[in-house]
Amino acid sequence: MKSLVILISGRGSNMQALLEAVFPVDRITVISNNPNATGLEIAKKLGADISIIDHRIYPDRQAFDTALAEKIDTCQPKLIALAGFMRILSDSFVQRYHGRLMNIHPSLLPSFPGLRTHAQALQEGIKIHGCTVHFVTPKLDHGPIVIQAAIPVLPNDTEKILAARVLQHEHRIYPQAVRWFMEDRIRLSENRVEIIDSNVNETALYSPGLPE
Ligand code: GRF
Repeated sequence: MKSLVILISGRGSNMQALLEAVFPVDRITVISNNPNATGLEIAKKLGADISIIDHRIYPDRQAFDTALAEKIDTCQPKLIALAGFMRILSDSFVQRYHGRLMNIHPSLLPSFPGLRTHAQALQEGIKIHGCTVHFVTPKLDHGPIVIQAAIPVLPNDTEKILAARVLQHEHRIYPQAVRWFMEDRIRLSENRVEIIDSNVNETALYSPGLPE
């Protein structure tokens, strides 16, 4: 049985894109550290199993991570996908799931790790921005890159406008990355990701270019 675990903390739009995508999976479990995450309602509606592990009831990060890992292990997931999961995971947690822990980040990594990526991008005046799906390593927002989408930054962009445009592409590339993984088409060696048997519609750099 192929199982997927998705970790969320809030809105859950990337989770929704994953739940609505088609790939070989028998069971999807959504786990939230936030009991009020709006994504939980969406997950329920879309038929995923849901579980809440509220970080606030644990004395420290290690205790929370242990409880989270225990829950994850009952699902025996092939892959764990972080989708707007707003907790920093301990090194031991990350190492335990080495090679099967993915994240989506709203910038072209390694530029702009951390929060407020769109504000940072505008502040720096960069002309190209985007989003990245990567394997998780102990260093925050860092790790072997699976797929990126690059978009132009336009003269009238605000943080909100840019975030919305990037988000559309997040919803496109995350399902693609997870599909590759679930189809056993990702080869990970050192810091490199190779996509096995990719065709012309499945590029690991998606770039829609300038608007018409
Ligand atoms: C997304 O921008 C994602 O890249 C980042 O957090 C945001 C979560 O949004 N890690 P959502 O909960 O998936 O809507």
